[in-house]
Amino acid sequence: MSDASPGSFRGRVFVVTGASSGLGYEIAQALAAEGAHLVLAGRAREPLAAAALACRERGASAIAVPTDVTLDADCSALIECARAEFGGVDGLVAAAGLGMWARFGELSGPEVMEPLMAVNYWGVVQPAFHALPDLRARNGMLVVISSVQGRIGVPWHSGYAAAKHAVQGFCDSLRLEEGERLAVLTVLAHWIRGTELRARALGSDGRPRGSAAAGHGGDAMLAEEAAARVVAAMRQRRRELWIPRHFRLVGILSSLVPALTDRLIRRRVEREHARQPRDD
Ligand SMILES: NC(=O)c1ccc[n+]([C@@H]2O[C@H](COP(=O)([O-])OP(=O)(O)OC[C@H]3O[C@@H](n4cnc5c(N)ncnc54)[C@H](OP(=O)(O)O)[C@@H]3O)[C@@H](O)[C@H]2O)c1
Repeated sequence: MSDASPGSFRGRVFVVTGASSGLGYEIAQALAAEGAHLVLAGRAREPLAAAALACRERGASAIAVPTDVTLDADCSALIECARAEFGGVDGLVAAAGLGMWARFGELSGPEVMEPLMAVNYWGVVQPAFHALPDLRARNGMLVVISSVQGRIGVPWHSGYAAAKHAVQGFCDSLRLEEGERLAVLTVLAHWIRGTELRARALGSDGRPRGSAAAGHGGDAMLAEEAAARVVAAMRQRRRELWIPRHFRLVGILSSLVPALTDRLIRRRVEREHARQPRDD
């Protein structure tokens, strides 16, 4: 990485996808507070511009680059913008994501699964491909906001869990290929409050289910706190971060006692589903 003292992000260049809301927004703000240079990506222009302004108000340099991460040309242009503005990329934080809340067997068609793979898998792989030469040369980092569902299956989330498993496999392989020259951090998060993921989650007809279906978030961790944990893990160049930490046990349990873990997950998610309005 470029010019700063070890562990500091001052003057380093981060591209953050999904920066217009939720976790991506909060990670960008946390990096801005440390004096990083930010290149913010998302589709919605106004929230993205507001996110860049909020970064600048924290004393950082920040630009908004409207980007659809499902389009390879947009991802290539995004990284080119970062190079043109700041001279290269030290870190890519891939936080763009799209959720699902529907049983596979109740989908209007298998094509409902496509945008889930396009955003959650291709939306990581494409910008990572274009940023890789810079990340390698600058001993940089790839941070992927995955999910607990990158390790375990969850009912009503098959398309989302499939895409998060795919991206987990991609990250685990890339880490082996690149060795010391690239830190690859995957964030396996459980439910986080203060984001739009649930409201935008696709229902059985492939349309967002809307805020009425989003739930109140219970005692889940706030996006701001989760972002602080992500940035701390980035500083340590860790390979994995579970949010909350004890959810690591779910990953361990599912390998040791898979049938029991399946029962526990099914019971928990069904209880939650019973509290949700039906979308079919
Ligand atoms: N919230 C949770 O409980 C939770 C739990 C585990 C993991 N995660 C993961 O955390 C990450 C952030 O999600 P969030 O919870 O913060 O949800 P969010 O508030 O809905 O944020 C999602 C972000 O992704 C962007 N995005 C969606 N489709 C895109 C596309 N095609 N191109 C570019 N950007 C796109 C959205 O911006 P535009 O609409 O402007 O494009 C938005 O900024 C996701 O990867 C999600 O899977 C969240």
